[in-house]
Amino acid sequence: MKLISLLSLFILLILMSCSNQTVDRNVSIIPQPSKLEVNDGEFEITKTTKLYVSDNVLDGTARFLSEKINSTSHFELAVVNEKPKKNYVAFILSDSLELTKEGYQLKVFESGIEIGAKTPEGIFYGLQSLLQLLPSEVESPQFVQKMKWIVPFVSIEDEPRFQWRGMHLDVCRHFVPLENIKKHLDMMAMLKLNTFHWHLTEDQAWRIEIKKYPLLTEIGSKRIEGEGHEYGGYYTQEDIKEIVKYAADRYIQVVPEIELPGHALAALTAYPEFSCTGGPFKVRNVWGVEPDVYCAGKEETFQFLEDVIEEVVSLFPSEYFHIGGDECPKDRWKECPECQKRIKQEELEDEHQLQSYFIKRIEKVLLAHNKKMIGWDEILEGGLAESAAVMSWRGEEGGIEAANQGHDVVMTPGNWCYLDHYQGDNRVEPVAIGGYTSLKEVYEYEPLPKELKFDKQHHILGTQGNVWTEYMYTPDLVEYRVYPRLIALAEVNWAVPGNRVYDDFIVRLDNIHRRMDFLGINYHIPLPEGPVNKMVFIDKIHVPFSNTRDLKMVYTTDGSKPTLASNVYSQPLIFAQNKTIKIATVLETGKMSPVRTIKLVQTKYVDPLNPEIKGAGLLERYVEGDFKKVEDLDAVNDWTERVNVMRPSKKMKRDGHKITSASVFTGYLEIPEDGIFEFSSNLDQFFIAGQLLIDNKEEVKRFSRNNSTIALRKGMHPVKLVFRNNIIGGWPQAWNGPSVRFRLLGEDDFVEASSEMYSY
Ligand code: ACM
Ligand code: ZN
Repeated sequence: MKLISLLSLFILLILMSCSNQTVDRNVSIIPQPSKLEVNDGEFEITKTTKLYVSDNVLDGTARFLSEKINSTSHFELAVVNEKPKKNYVAFILSDSLELTKEGYQLKVFESGIEIGAKTPEGIFYGLQSLLQLLPSEVESPQFVQKMKWIVPFVSIEDEPRFQWRGMHLDVCRHFVPLENIKKHLDMMAMLKLNTFHWHLTEDQAWRIEIKKYPLLTEIGSKRIEGEGHEYGGYYTQEDIKEIVKYAADRYIQVVPEIELPGHALAALTAYPEFSCTGGPFKVRNVWGVEPDVYCAGKEETFQFLEDVIEEVVSLFPSEYFHIGGDECPKDRWKECPECQKRIKQEELEDEHQLQSYFIKRIEKVLLAHNKKMIGWDEILEGGLAESAAVMSWRGEEGGIEAANQGHDVVMTPGNWCYLDHYQGDNRVEPVAIGGYTSLKEVYEYEPLPKELKFDKQHHILGTQGNVWTEYMYTPDLVEYRVYPRLIALAEVNWAVPGNRVYDDFIVRLDNIHRRMDFLGINYHIPLPEGPVNKMVFIDKIHVPFSNTRDLKMVYTTDGSKPTLASNVYSQPLIFAQNKTIKIATVLETGKMSPVRTIKLVQTKYVDPLNPEIKGAGLLERYVEGDFKKVEDLDAVNDWTERVNVMRPSKKMKRDGHKITSASVFTGYLEIPEDGIFEFSSNLDQFFIAGQLLIDNKEEVKRFSRNNSTIALRKGMHPVKLVFRNNIIGGWPQAWNGPSVRFRLLGEDDFVEASSEMYSY
């Protein structure tokens, strides 16, 4: 971990010169080992190969291998305590090896395979490298005919750069069942990640059973979604134990996160007496940050949290305990007599110091349980608790400041480590929270900030991917966001910088792709980008495609589904008549992305109208009510009519739970020049020139995936905007207000249709 000294830089240079930078399909390990030599020859594991363990603490690791081989080829490999002369896989603990705690040596030669390390976790990591040298079928849960378990001769010496190699998972915004968590733990083990940060409580749910406070899960684990149905799920203490054990078997520590003092509305819905106002509350059903937080004035709040912590620590043997600490609005504390009394009594300056007081009290509770406290970087505000470690998420500054103050730090800055960001064009990717972090950007993250002085660098424990699940509505979508980006971050955490070469990583990634296919992981494959789903043209159209990794794309124009034998895209496609393009991206492994369908439609320019204009803005018909479908508006006969002279969004309320209305705007949009325009809208429907151009149906309308094109002449064109002011997928439409944007085809930037462009 503390690699950066002149000496270690020197070692690093030597390692770089030894490491295998050329691509060998047979030797493709992620994360890239420190030192890897490939030799001539191969060893084959057969039915009669014996697994030798130097110590019975390694039995589990030996079984890890034998069970995988057994499920694929039904070999029953014997585990023995005496080292055979030949035909063995040996797992050998040895104090004399010159390796760090998690390091290992792996040698494959004529007589067998030897994995040596100082610790069982080192041995386990050696096994993970061995598994990646075996055919990917080793991950197959099913029998495979005639498997040959051949391993190339190698000599590997390897150890991690950082000690905290993690993944965070928010199971509150969307619940992740045990089986799916186990899949992530399997992937983490493969990638030599060692920390699973389990975000268990939120405004939108409380997901861990606490026996002393049963309402936390009875009430707090459920919410009524904006669409009207109940959404829930929680882990019993038995479930938690099962996951902690499953993780421990893979040398992964599970760090629980119990959020305080903010992000606590689910708990406060169950026990409103621990809030400032006393409630009542409802478990939050929209994303974002809740103003109601734990009361910092009441002693009962601290008693409650102490009780909760007592039960939680008994379930998690991890060294660390995460207390959240982020995004705690101070509004309620400012108004609360008890919080104000606490500020006076404790001679605090303000509510920021009250937050610090809160965290420091919790720190004492954790220390009494022998736990190290870790929290998001807001815990720096008002003074950091003495023993606290900091997770830097709002950039790197919090981490740098904490390290300079002598605190340990996990770096998880949003720009690189937030795996909820988009990883491709938001017009074609499933809806995400926003942002854009490509696989390459994740890969290029450097956890040691340049600004940090040498004598503070050892405080940087490592990095982790943060997985916030607001827009991950299913476990499949979690996998889609996490992989392959977590794989890149695993290499960031493990490999020394000189061993991190993106172009080489991308080639090695295919070995992991194959394994993920056997594990049934729904990983992201870049989609063909460029055109939207409907492209109009007058005479001829050029259709350029690209994808974020410059991967091969195959397409058809006869309406059939593309296959590996279909045309390979090499340059913009040109057509002069109606066509349907079906196109997909293809990995080296032959696996294809979802197919995109693009309709090319020959058309004529639509002439403008010459209407009599009464004024600026649009005519709005408005009605209160919760309309589940656009068609439900047909039955409305008590519309309120008004002229909305502003841009529509300015008129919308922003009050989370209570938004239920619909508006239909009509009038004209002034188009500035002749051209083919791409329109984008978060409305339910957008009509122009008599066409339903955009229909977002029941989708989450943020970052619409239903952009469309139309050829318009300069001038006034009739428009109709249908907008339901409701909540879909946790997104209150009113947060953005209705928006229509357009751009001339070929231009980069969209223009918002402004109030000056509308008239009625
Ligand atoms: C965070 O993303 N609110 C830590
Ligand atoms: Zn209070």
